[in-house]
Amino acid sequence: MKQRKTNNNLPIFVVVFTVFLFGVFMYDEDVKSIAEFPFSTPKATQIQDQQSKQANNPENEVLPLNSKETTKEPDDDDHHHDLEESIVVKDDEQQQKIEIPVVEEDDDDVEVPPEDCDLFTGQWVFDNETYPLYKEDECEFLTAQVTCMRNGRKDSMYQNWRWQPRDCNLPKFKPRFFLEKLRNKRLMFVGDSLNRNQWESMICLVQSAVPAGNKSLNKSGSLSVFRIEDYNATVEFYWAPFLVQSNSDDPKRHSILDRIIMPESIKEHGKNWKDVDYLIFNTYIWWMNTFTMKVLRGSFDRGDTEYDEIERPVAYKRVLETWSKWVEKNVNSNRTTVFFNSMSPLHIKSLDWNNPNGIKCALETTPILNQSMYLDVGTDRRLLVIANNITQNMNVKVHFVNITSLSEYRKDAHTSVYTIRQGKMLTPEQQADPENFADCIHWCLPGLPDIWNEFVYTRIIANS
Ligand SMILES: *[C@@H]1O[C@H](CO)[C@@H](O)[C@H](O)[C@H]1NC(C)=O
Ligand SMILES: *[C@@H]1O[C@H](CO)[C@@H](O)[C@H](O)[C@H]1NC(C)=O
Ligand SMILES: *[C@@H]1O[C@H](CO)[C@@H](O)[C@H](O)[C@H]1NC(C)=O
Ligand SMILES: *[C@@H]1O[C@H](CO)[C@@H](O)[C@H](O)[C@H]1NC(C)=O
Ligand SMILES: *[C@@H]1O[C@H](CO)[C@@H](O)[C@H](O)[C@H]1NC(C)=O
Ligand SMILES: *[C@@H]1O[C@H](CO)[C@@H](O)[C@H](O)[C@H]1NC(C)=O
Ligand SMILES: *[C@@H]1O[C@H](CO)[C@@H](O)[C@H](O)[C@H]1NC(C)=O
Ligand SMILES: *[C@@H]1O[C@H](CO)[C@@H](O)[C@H](O)[C@H]1NC(C)=O
Repeated sequence: MKQRKTNNNLPIFVVVFTVFLFGVFMYDEDVKSIAEFPFSTPKATQIQDQQSKQANNPENEVLPLNSKETTKEPDDDDHHHDLEESIVVKDDEQQQKIEIPVVEEDDDDVEVPPEDCDLFTGQWVFDNETYPLYKEDECEFLTAQVTCMRNGRKDSMYQNWRWQPRDCNLPKFKPRFFLEKLRNKRLMFVGDSLNRNQWESMICLVQSAVPAGNKSLNKSGSLSVFRIEDYNATVEFYWAPFLVQSNSDDPKRHSILDRIIMPESIKEHGKNWKDVDYLIFNTYIWWMNTFTMKVLRGSFDRGDTEYDEIERPVAYKRVLETWSKWVEKNVNSNRTTVFFNSMSPLHIKSLDWNNPNGIKCALETTPILNQSMYLDVGTDRRLLVIANNITQNMNVKVHFVNITSLSEYRKDAHTSVYTIRQGKMLTPEQQADPENFADCIHWCLPGLPDIWNEFVYTRIIANS
């Protein structure tokens, strides 16, 4: 904040305040766990280290459905780690339930909306007949970060909202039909914990159609792979919160306050994305706790530590330009379909939606339904403009998944106090103190990210 220029106007003030609150949140979240950043660690080796470590590291083991063990890990400081922490494998009876294949799935009546229909302009419609698309306790791959009901949330209406585009309909989600499209293919989410949120959703959306023993989850370093044997298909997540190389790339120890990026360096990450059939990128949340971005002078590999502080949009543009060049050079669009997700919004100030009695997002049980209400929840729309512009001007077609506005209405859908923090379930005392402990960044599952995946689904089934 010290770096701010003085040409502020009123909306900027609002942004400043919101970002300040967010900064406080993130600081609070991270401060207990600041690991000193090993500036001199060569990044490439680090990645290899993780992979070689994983052989005898229990957290990297594959978790087949029939496994009786619950993976237990000593506490660590970050959400990715929570992922390992919280796999719960159900008992046999429960599995019987899960195993029931989706029976009546007639493949012939899937109606795909016209390519030029704007899917992102529309409204939220209450629909407890069709939604949720899966049940929280029938998807054993969900982590404790997102299982809000199991974690004590009482209201469940947040699971019952359908997104209705104004000018067309989203096709019904059919797991088996979709799995046919994924046969012999890889689908990969690349980005931060919001993309991981969406990855978990995607696993749950498809897993109900796959019998027990034919699906497994392998978490190993930056890459987590959900594998569906029968279909020879994978649904993967790759941790790269800035897409480019940064000091926050370690999936286990990334709670670093002083975030530093190398905006022109993407190859090390990129080699993990080659030849993937469906790539879904995002980067946003990690940009939001400071106004400027620290850009390394030189290279981590050479042990450089000096950096410049650059205005957020300027650095964001540099990163996306690096990313777009990588895509243009490495993606064969005959094979690969590329998506870019726009910003996932936060809800940390209830006055943003005129609720003076709210506490962040914690007391919200319904979406904002009145779309004529002016709404600004602090999203940095400068980044939206940049992302949209860059993705729409590339040689490779990129589907811009414009989730921002429609998600801004979903103040009710965050994990709030029904989640974990640094690997542990919030205590009752913490749950009673949403001002300090509510997570108004991530989303409950089933929930909003299922809708984001319906957009991905729509494009995939339309183009194949
Ligand atoms: C994103 O969608 C919203 C409606 O949900 C629309 O108002 C906005 O213009 C769109 N932005 C971009 C960059 O497409
Ligand atoms: C859906 O909601 C309506 C109105 O709240 C309620 O009467 C009905 O029982 C619900 N149906 C299901 C399947 O939950
Ligand atoms: C299985 O999927 C992989 C990854 O998409 C692909 O390279 C391979 O050819 C597939 N195997 C078969 C037998 O089709
Ligand atoms: C998956 O199911 C097929 C038959 O549907 C079976 O041949 C195969 O052995 C199963 N794979 C595993 C790993 O259980
Ligand atoms: C899990 O993934 C790692 C890294 O790709 C791989 O080396 C390992 O063999 C996998 N484990 C199993 C059991 O497939
Ligand atoms: C993609 O397919 C088209 C038409 O089939 C072909 O002309 C073109 O060379 C292909 N491009 C690449 C990069 O393989
Ligand atoms: C929606 O919001 C507008 C602007 O704040 C307000 O004038 C209108 O009365 C609201 N409509 C409803 C149905 O609450
Ligand atoms: C959009 O990108 C083009 C180049 O790709 C650039 O010339 C133009 O200024 C950009 N527009 C905005 C609004 O950023």
